[in-house]
Amino acid sequence: MANSICFVITVDGPSASGKGTLARRLAKHFCLRYLDTGSIYRAIAFKMEKNGCDSLQAELAERIALRLAKEDLNEPELRREDIGLKASVIAAYPKVREAVLDYQREFAYTLPGAVLDGRDIGTVVCPNATAKIYLDANREIRVTRRLKELQLRGMESIEAHVLLEMKERDKRDKKRSVAPLKLAQDAYLIDSSNLTEDEVFENAVCFIEKKYGEVV
Ligand code: DC
Repeated sequence: MANSICFVITVDGPSASGKGTLARRLAKHFCLRYLDTGSIYRAIAFKMEKNGCDSLQAELAERIALRLAKEDLNEPELRREDIGLKASVIAAYPKVREAVLDYQREFAYTLPGAVLDGRDIGTVVCPNATAKIYLDANREIRVTRRLKELQLRGMESIEAHVLLEMKERDKRDKKRSVAPLKLAQDAYLIDSSNLTEDEVFENAVCFIEKKYGEVV
């Protein structure tokens, strides 16, 4: 699986921790490709909704996961809050995770390498990654960030709802039996609660350069 010449950076963390922003910047900085793995689970949830099915149908979710195409990941509606919540339900099905594992690994281990963000990238998808980051932030701050993001997208939302959904999603993503969100033993933890985007980025780059120095 692992092509040791590839430069692979993993960014894991809970929702609205800032991992997408960080991962995109890191990809640009290190001239690597970028994969938002959450969009895979969101795309499955969205297809199920379009077929008029609810997210509790595990077998259907697996069938959709096996037939997912790259283009399915670009649908703007995937960013909806309710799709994120449904994605979290679907992501707990072991066969769904199995179905999308090879795609993620192939993406990561195609030269020159890639930055992937998600929940289980450093622990399950790319356990031999060059550098692993775990980005966290306290929940109030994550809720504030999510509300701002939704407002910028023109999606009105109620703070209490966003908080409730985030609590539910955090719990499910951390407690599920397969590939739960957790800190990989060799991951670098950054708490972004009181840091600017630039500070998080600089902190991460510093760690990655040091780590890269150790492997070459
Ligand atoms: O990162 P996101 O909010 O777009 O992810 C949506 C859901 O997908 C998240 O609640 C859990 C799931 N997910 C996962 O289980 N594993 C990943 N690597 C990425 C996302």
